[in-house]
Amino acid sequence: MPEDHVERVLISEAEIARRVGELGALLTEKYMGKNPLFICPLKGSAIFFADLLRKIKIPCEIDFMAVSSYNSNTVSSGNVKILKDLTCDIGGRYAVIVEDIIDSGNTLFELKNTLEKRGPASLEICTLLDKPSRRVKPLNPDYCGFTIPDLFVIGYGMDLNEEYRNLPYIGVYNDIVSA
Ligand code: IMP
Ligand code: MG
Repeated sequence: MPEDHVERVLISEAEIARRVGELGALLTEKYMGKNPLFICPLKGSAIFFADLLRKIKIPCEIDFMAVSSYNSNTVSSGNVKILKDLTCDIGGRYAVIVEDIIDSGNTLFELKNTLEKRGPASLEICTLLDKPSRRVKPLNPDYCGFTIPDLFVIGYGMDLNEEYRNLPYIGVYNDIVSA
């Protein structure tokens, strides 16, 4: 059972839904008349992205990217490695990167720099979760659902070795399975 590895529910389905609604309202107001482009870096953001988009009540477009994330054995330098690029040109567009969680900030820092070079009219970051205590890069989200302590979380799109993405809530991972 996936639940065996959930030490406790950190953010419930209802809390997520309420906050996603608020973020959608903020983005709706901010981007009215601008036909914004919402960018989903796969895969962790997919669930948040799908829910958030339905709370945005203005014409907009979506696109998807896949980038390599650096682990502790890999030096993060230069541009992020793009595994799947956007299909549209973001030059002159009002773009928003929709992220699941910002941890060290390495991935998003590089991704943001890469996309900035393509000349968007603006480029903001909306993250569901932020773990600021872990940050090594100077990067702050423009919109943040919840600030959380230094915990490893799973569910609502977020994984551990590709598991648990389908949990409807955000849980704290625990590798000790109790009987
Ligand atoms: P960063 O480059 O260290 O900020 O890494 C960010 C990415 O690592 C996120 O987009 C997630 O995919 C993943 N990540 C960071 N913290 C967690 C966590 O607590 N649970 C699941 N995935 C995480
Ligand atoms: Mg992510």
